[in-house]
Amino acid sequence: MKNNDNNNDNSDWMHGLYRLSDAQRRQIISDRFKLNDDKRELLARNASQLGNQLIENYLTDYRLPEGLVTNLVVNDKTYAVPVVTEEPSVVAAACNGARRVALSGGFFAPDAKRAMLGQVVLKNVADPDKLQDWLTSHETEILAVANAAHPSMQKRGGGAKKIRLRKIDPFVSVDLIIGVGEAMGANTVNTMAEAVAHYLKAHNYDVLTAILTNAAFMSLQSAACRVSFKNLATATMDGATVALRIADLSQLAQVDPYRAATHNKGIMNGIDALMIASGNDWRAIESGAYAYAAKTGRLKGISTWQISDDALVGRIELPLPVGTVGGSIGLNPMTRLNFKINDIQSAEELAKVAASLGLAQNLAALRALATSGIQAGHMQMQYRSLAVVVGAKDKEIPALVKKLKQMPQVSQAVAKKALQELRKDSTNDRRTTD
Ligand code: MEV
Repeated sequence: MKNNDNNNDNSDWMHGLYRLSDAQRRQIISDRFKLNDDKRELLARNASQLGNQLIENYLTDYRLPEGLVTNLVVNDKTYAVPVVTEEPSVVAAACNGARRVALSGGFFAPDAKRAMLGQVVLKNVADPDKLQDWLTSHETEILAVANAAHPSMQKRGGGAKKIRLRKIDPFVSVDLIIGVGEAMGANTVNTMAEAVAHYLKAHNYDVLTAILTNAAFMSLQSAACRVSFKNLATATMDGATVALRIADLSQLAQVDPYRAATHNKGIMNGIDALMIASGNDWRAIESGAYAYAAKTGRLKGISTWQISDDALVGRIELPLPVGTVGGSIGLNPMTRLNFKINDIQSAEELAKVAASLGLAQNLAALRALATSGIQAGHMQMQYRSLAVVVGAKDKEIPALVKKLKQMPQVSQAVAKKALQELRKDSTNDRRTTD
């Protein structure tokens, strides 16, 4: 391993790192790992005050590309959606899927209920039925305790609404159902759950933990679309055949957990990218999506595609407890800027757009899998990345990508050699013309 003195257990330098300024940390890291001037400068150049306020042991901001998904039509409104991703083909695929659906009328995403769930888990409950009776008679008081812990939420029409008991032997979960308005609400839910935990402790219940669940099954959002066969055709395959093959792939994701994982990953490519661009906790959304995908005890695709008359009908449903306020949303100027571009006004609207984007991403992936395979489209973008990695200048990239496309096998070494040849050829060309 390079530069890794840590293997010798020499980790003294890490001690108290969090107490230093970010500039001091960068200095220590730069010296310790013998960074050259360019790398030192890179760390310093990307550093921000905001980043330093947000996390501990802050070094610098790690940048990711932001791009625009165009022509995403949801409930008759056309969106241009900023998304953040490092995967080269994601934005191109999302635009492709969105455009095909737009040509057939766009996505429909219905209004959906939104609530979060906090759990206060108890141990050693001798008689859960007796506890149920006690909870029923104390429900008003418990909800008041929860709401007193975060009074502003009730003023905004949210707050703790209901409690329920779940027996999960050997534990019992007292679930709090909480409205969180425009926020994703993790802090609100956790604060309320902890307040109820204190109350239950004071009544001699043995509390194990109090925390929200990311299985946000009370914030399910769906979206659907109907794509005409003609908008699915390729140069070599007619639309009806493509549609049939997409429906088969959809079925495969329902019966094979191995395929379901990849099917859902493709959907989350788009949804995560929107979550990052909109300042949402994308790990929470991922976690909820996978919990929902496995709700039957077996992992399944969270979208389905079926043939209906002369069209392919797609449908998706997943938990989308998203927010347009709270967390880092108001802090990060890029997030605020992205909300200006996407013109999304509420958490409900964001959930509708996210579900639709996931379905658009899924359509593009399945159409590629059903026809030319995924690599054809992927490689075009991968070649561009490879060209950048081997040091091609902007004006050299198209020629290098063209050259790489003609090669039977491409690697970093091959790309490097191809770039050298390209440069040699253009020097020779210049000499000849001179
Ligand atoms: C790649 O990031 C995502 C896909 O594998 C999704 C899929 O297979 O459905 C293309």
